[in-house]
Amino acid sequence: MKGLILSGGKGTRMRPITHTAAKQLLPVANKPILYYGIEALVDAGIKEIGIIISPETGEDVKTSVGNGDRWGIKVEYILQDQPAGLAHAVKTAQPFLGDDPFVMYLGDNLIKDGVGPLVREFEKGNADAFILLKEVENPSSFGVAVLNPDGSIKKLDEKPAKPESNLALVGVYLFNKEIHKAIGLIQPSKRGELEITDAIQKLIDIGHKVGNHILKSWWLDTGKKDDMLEANRVVLDEMIEVNLEGVIDAASKVSGRVTLGKGSRLVNCTVRGPAIIGTDCLIENTYIGPFTSIGDRAHVSFAEIEHCILREDCKITDFHGRIADSLIGVNVELTRGEHRPVAYRLMLGDDSKVEVV
Ligand code: DAU
Repeated sequence: MKGLILSGGKGTRMRPITHTAAKQLLPVANKPILYYGIEALVDAGIKEIGIIISPETGEDVKTSVGNGDRWGIKVEYILQDQPAGLAHAVKTAQPFLGDDPFVMYLGDNLIKDGVGPLVREFEKGNADAFILLKEVENPSSFGVAVLNPDGSIKKLDEKPAKPESNLALVGVYLFNKEIHKAIGLIQPSKRGELEITDAIQKLIDIGHKVGNHILKSWWLDTGKKDDMLEANRVVLDEMIEVNLEGVIDAASKVSGRVTLGKGSRLVNCTVRGPAIIGTDCLIENTYIGPFTSIGDRAHVSFAEIEHCILREDCKITDFHGRIADSLIGVNVELTRGEHRPVAYRLMLGDDSKVEVV
């Protein structure tokens, strides 16, 4: 069994952040989203992973992930020249996949439960594909499955305007070699993409067995800013442990589950977890509230920050105000002259400079 992780695409919904970074490398609890997918596959015993990359952000993905040594696996990169759809990505990866069965994992998805049990069920069973489904409130944003009374799949639709069910396709799929034949039989959709949803529908139409499992635990598709903040909230809530490796002065108070990285200093601060502060940060005269992730080497002074993701090397200094529900790119400088009792909601791309006067 091989792994195929899709980390191409253009990330248009996350601009301006994705002008300078791959959306799959954006951090959730200070770890790139993509790593959660890699680790889910590694935990399932998969030793060979192909990662689909785009010409725009592929080099950054390669630099960040490397050759897989750190997870004890082999990573191969597959360049998809344009984001022509999930089935197009599989087609591009065919030389890597050969005739092997594989797990396909969308690089911007996070699921709570691992994929190990699904992989084993697929290996033992006689299905040619296996999909994960989840009840959602906004099915028209996803691929949607309609089931027969016996629980088998009746049909699949990609982002239907009038969904016939509330079961969305989750971005984790298991396939054997039959999927390649099905992809050969489909045409681009109305939005011009070769859809994996259409390829799976084709498998069903030509008589192949497609299994499904309805997820009960959480699943997050981190397409937009608020999805990122929600992913950060859920992961901090469930995974962060108390781990204080930095220095906390006598005037600071830390409560709840907080991780403070090596070389970081809290000076006259209040930090309420769950929260994570990276390495070599300086946080002074500041309140850090729950569900906040602060990247390495940040400098924050005279600010209140809650339910935010601040990336590496940010400087939010002499701010005298509150920042909530915000996603702030790498190396952003944000400062403010005088005190006014307001909050800011921000999505600032890398290297932004903002001065509120
Ligand atoms: O998240 C689940 C949904 O993912 C499913 O419900 C849909 O059926 C499925 O089509 C997909 O929809 P999205 O609109 O969310 O897909 P998106 O364009 O965001 O791409 C998902 C990932 O795959 C993302 O990491 C980018 C990557 N990708 C995307 C395309 C279109 C590629 O690597 N190559 C591509 O050509």
